This record gives sequence, structure tokens and C-alpha cells, in this order.
Amino acid sequence: MNHAPHRPHPQHDTDGQADILDLDAEVLAGHMAALTQWLPVRTPPREIVDLGCGTGAGTFALLDRFPGARIRAVDASAGHLRRLREKSRALGVDDRVRTLLADLDESDWPDLGSPDLVWASASMHHMADPDQALRTVHGLLAPGGLFAVVELAGPPRFLPADAPRERPGLEERCHAAAQQFHAHHVPHRGADWGPKLTAAGFSLDGERTVTVDIAGAGDPAVGAYALGTLQRLRHRAVDALSTYDVAALDRLLDTDSPHSILRRDDLTVRTERTVWAARRHD
Ligand SMILES: C[S@@+](CC[C@H](N)C(=O)[O-])C[C@H]1O[C@@H](n2cnc3c(N)ncnc32)[C@H](O)[C@@H]1O
Repeated sequence: MNHAPHRPHPQHDTDGQADILDLDAEVLAGHMAALTQWLPVRTPPREIVDLGCGTGAGTFALLDRFPGARIRAVDASAGHLRRLREKSRALGVDDRVRTLLADLDESDWPDLGSPDLVWASASMHHMADPDQALRTVHGLLAPGGLFAVVELAGPPRFLPADAPRERPGLEERCHAAAQQFHAHHVPHRGADWGPKLTAAGFSLDGERTVTVDIAGAGDPAVGAYALGTLQRLRHRAVDALSTYDVAALDRLLDTDSPHSILRRDDLTVRTERTVWAARRHD
């Protein structure tokens, strides 16, 4: 399948998340493909559900990996689903994708059939009651089916530890300053999903972590990804940062400035993604 880079349509997106998801998918496409390749499926799945699909990073990787499969892509954001449908038409796979708008925090989930693979990437930690969500997935999976939970240890890092020169360590201080926001809004981020999946009735078939360390100087997608991520981080961290750090961050975010993050020759993307493969008993 030809993954033409999808450029942002800001009108679909109020807080910039859709653009970041698309850039994340573009920059980490190889790593996502490696995760789907690793999945310990017994036979190629025919019916897949992508929970909290966003703009389709996992959906399109799974369609590539399993050419005989159809996917129900579920999300609470109508804008994300609209963008996913646009992409599936552009890629010529719209006959294999159905989108469903649903809030998975509600007790009534839409009819998701009896899938043989359920995929949830960076979405389970958003659930108000993830343990309940895992039990619901266990109930809907076909016997012997697989649930792949992909989560990130934390947001990606883009700058060396000693950058920028006038405020070394700025990026880590920004993440520390945003900690209160994250503890309140996404308290399950960084959880160990293995024991949670076992408690929900699954048996664990494996766990794999991929380490991402991509050199990105001069790469427009990496630059836009770093810029968008740090803009969102600023919003969450600004109240807890010193005025000196805010000023240094704003210089990085000013795309007209010679200090702009887009002009740095030491830009990288460093992060980790872990997938837990959990099976429902036959
Ligand atoms: C970090 S994004 C990940 C998107 C996508 N899976 C990916 O890997 O790019 C989390 C997604 O979960 C969705 N989400 C969060 N809470 C949800 C809920 N209660 N019901 C359905 N979707 C939800 C968000 O709208 C968002 O698209």
C-alpha cells in the first residue's frame, strides 16, 4: 500500500491532536510496522477492531499487515474519524474500513462483532476505567483471539539533555512541569498493562518494546512533529515553569527565530512503544 504523507487539515481539529497523530504515524511508520509484524497471531485475522483509532496510524498499518482483514475503527472524535475516512479513500481501502463514533467510557459499546484481533494503541490509558474496558474487550473477542495493547512510556523527546545552550535541560523541566496536568487527566499512562490484562481474564502471549531513536535534523515531518508536540507541552507546563524557561521555550517555538527548533541540527525523536499481546482462551 502506498502511504502518501497526509498533510494536516487544521479545520478538522481544534486542539492540534489530529495533526500530531498524523505526524507521529508518518515519523514512526517503520516502528509501527515492526509491532504489527511481531503480533503472535495464529492465523491471519479477518475481523479487526481498532479502539481509540485516532486518525488511523494503527488501522492502516494493520490493513497493510493483514491484506485479508476488515477493520472497525472506533473513536470518540468525529474529526479524527473523518480524517481517517479521507485517508482510507485516498489509499483505496475504504471498502475494508468502517468507522464508528463511540465513547468507550460509556457502558454500552456499539456492536463490534466478534473480532479475532483487537488493537488499542495509546488509547487504553485514556479510559476512565481501563480495567472495565479490558474486561469488555475480553467479552467481545472471538475465542482464541488476540488483544494488542500498545502504550508509550512517555511523550517523545527531541532535544539533547544539554540543550538549549542558555537553559540546558529545558525539555525535561517542561515534562516535569506538565506532570500535574498528566496525573490529573491521564493517570493510567505508564501503567504496567500485563497484570491488568491477566486480571481481566487474558493470558499473556508476549510483550515487546521497540526503542525509537531517529535523527531528524532537516526532516520537515520530524520538525513539524517536534514543534507540535512542544506547543502542546507548553500549554500544559507554562504555569509551572520559570519565566526564563518559558522565554527559552518560546524561542524554540518561534519558527521565524534563528533559535527555532526547526533550525536545530541536533533534532532527534527518542521514545519507546511497548505492545502486550493478550489472548482470550479458546
Ligand atoms: C493518543 S490518541 C491515539 C490514536 C491512535 N490509536 C494512534 O495510535 O495514533 C488516543 C485516541 O483515543 C481516543 N479516545 C480517548 N478517549 C476515548 C473514549 N473514551 N472513547 C473513544 N475514544 C477515545 C482519542 O480521541 C484519540 O483518538
